[in-house]
Amino acid sequence: MSVYFVLEEFMMQKFNAGIIGTGSNLPEKVMTNFDLEKIVDTSDEWIRTRTGISERRIADEFTATSDIASVAAKSALENAGLTADQIDLILVATVTPDMAFPSTACFVQKNIGAMNATAFDLGAGCSGFIYGLSVANSFISSGIYKNVLVIGAETLSKVINWEDRNTCVLFGDGAGAAVVSRVEENSGILSIQLGANGNHAGLITEPAGGSRTPVTHEVLDKKLNTIHMEGSEVFKLAIRTMGAVSEDVIKESGLTVNDLSLVIPHQANQRIIDGIFKRLNVPKEKSHLNLEKYGNTSAASIPIALDEASRQGKLKKGDNLLMVAFGSGLTWGAAIIKWVK
Ligand code: ACO
Repeated sequence: MSVYFVLEEFMMQKFNAGIIGTGSNLPEKVMTNFDLEKIVDTSDEWIRTRTGISERRIADEFTATSDIASVAAKSALENAGLTADQIDLILVATVTPDMAFPSTACFVQKNIGAMNATAFDLGAGCSGFIYGLSVANSFISSGIYKNVLVIGAETLSKVINWEDRNTCVLFGDGAGAAVVSRVEENSGILSIQLGANGNHAGLITEPAGGSRTPVTHEVLDKKLNTIHMEGSEVFKLAIRTMGAVSEDVIKESGLTVNDLSLVIPHQANQRIIDGIFKRLNVPKEKSHLNLEKYGNTSAASIPIALDEASRQGKLKKGDNLLMVAFGSGLTWGAAIIKWVK
């Protein structure tokens, strides 16, 4: 057999990728709805009934995204039974990097001592973890890498306009991580799909701080370096898009809704989650939600919930898990995973 054919056979080889360990980290400081009542014209009652959120975690002034990401990463490695030098790639999904460059993933690499890994960040808003999972899946199934650390981490409190009641009540800080590795056939990621529609790019933005509008005194005065969102438009698109992509991945995996043991949706708003569950006809008992405690932690939302669910024994070997997300871009993504632990 020629070298060409050996190489071609290797390139065609298809490995399965699955999650073999998870970790998470939340800042200690809790900000309740009652705390927010003292800052903006809002009420605990409004926030709870319109969003399902009661409190969120806030990082202190010295804590950057890579700090909480690194703690979550170490916890995931321990949970997976791997050492940092076994990691081939670190992906950090975030909209709140430590700095524009270098990537937050490189800070995490240094903090955890994963010196055999390559590292980069990924920006897909709240869908970032599912995007990261898909990239990890591609590298592993093609045989290029064996172990990938996918992290979703945010310090959204640093880009919130604390005078804007439309947005400041919604978000929180936190980090979640998953070790994605080569697993047995017919297990791990059974199907995964991503999507984006830049026609809706203006709906959730941090308008300034990039090349379009660099930071100036005027930008700071107008608070253009903070989150801007057209909430009700996002709300409608979120239900429609997450419902559709969930149906697509379930179909692609060859399963039915009845085969799902657990559903972890992006945790942005209880009413959005209710809408998706209704559309998919999934009972609420099959969900793991922490929105009430942490608010919307964007790319960190799904991996934090995944780590909690796994550690609480809600996921057993062979269980089918659906994860589905939606975020700025607009972006969306969903995955069906047969749990391997
Ligand atoms: N407290 C009291 N009143 C408020 C508050 C508040 N915190 N925020 C808004 N209101 C008021 C509005 O001013 C408005 O008053 P008006 O009628 O006098 O103008 C009224 O409440 C209703 O406002 P709506 O925006 O229509 O409220 P809605 O029911 O749509 O809820 C919300 C708003 C919670 C933002 C919802 O639209 C939502 O969750 N959207 C989705 C957000 C999301 O999923 N984002 C995910 C992506 S984020 C990312 O990728 C980084």
